[in-house]
Amino acid sequence: MIFSNQKVLVIALKSCHLKELMRTGRNEHLDYLDSFYRTNLSPEFLAKMETAREESRQLNREGISVSLSEAYLISELVRQSQSAAFMELGSLTGYSALFLLRGLKENGTLYCFEKDDHCALFLKNLFADTGSVPELKGKKVVVVHGDARQKLDSWEVPSGLGGVFIDANKAAYVDYLNWIESRLSGSYLVIADNVFLSGSVWGAKETSFSAKQIQVMNEFNMRLMNNPVNNLKYSSFFIGTSEGLLVAKRQA
Ligand SMILES: C[S@@+](CC[C@H](N)C(=O)[O-])C[C@H]1O[C@@H](n2cnc3c(N)ncnc32)[C@H](O)[C@@H]1O
Repeated sequence: MIFSNQKVLVIALKSCHLKELMRTGRNEHLDYLDSFYRTNLSPEFLAKMETAREESRQLNREGISVSLSEAYLISELVRQSQSAAFMELGSLTGYSALFLLRGLKENGTLYCFEKDDHCALFLKNLFADTGSVPELKGKKVVVVHGDARQKLDSWEVPSGLGGVFIDANKAAYVDYLNWIESRLSGSYLVIADNVFLSGSVWGAKETSFSAKQIQVMNEFNMRLMNNPVNNLKYSSFFIGTSEGLLVAKRQA
């Protein structure tokens, strides 16, 4: 079909306008959510958040840390699970850990598995003095420094452990799930980030993920999401963030 020049111009302008609207609409959408979340956080908590964020910026790794909306959502899921203890596999500079700790019951403990030497030390310092932060007062973080796959082998599961947030090396997600299913009992929560691998799991090309990582993530997603009516092992769902969050509640 041949368009007149005028028609082409109108279509081009409309599509630019649409793109701009979609882009600004998305930002406004997130800003709207974050404005509620920020209002619910104390100035002391906000300051800790900024410290964790700034350190990830300094390390040039801010992009691999969760956003405020994702962190807040994870925090509330943990709160709803009424857990006294929780684990995080892959903590970086503690941004998500702050929110996991916030979600725990009074005097709760968060176990942060982190293999990077610099990050492990940074986490210890970040959580050394939480007494002045209302959301974190009386709660503590134990940093387990080293490769989580090795550390978990000999790690004793603490009482009251309500679940795991998985955000470490993607090729090990199935190993982590195997560990969880063999060592945890009763009802527990599994939350995992990056389960879309930037679209690799549904075939997007030109991503940086290896065939092995994609195969592992597809198996991980299948095992947690495949819950036919006669075998309701997990109550689970995806949250369609850009990176993909998977939430699975193991039925007791
Ligand atoms: C995506 S970042 C975690 C981001 C953090 N959860 C947040 O949202 O702020 C992944 C982290 O996992 C750590 N990591 C990678 N492989 C690991 C392993 N095998 N054991 C423990 N930590 C690991 C990395 O050092 C990195 O700090």
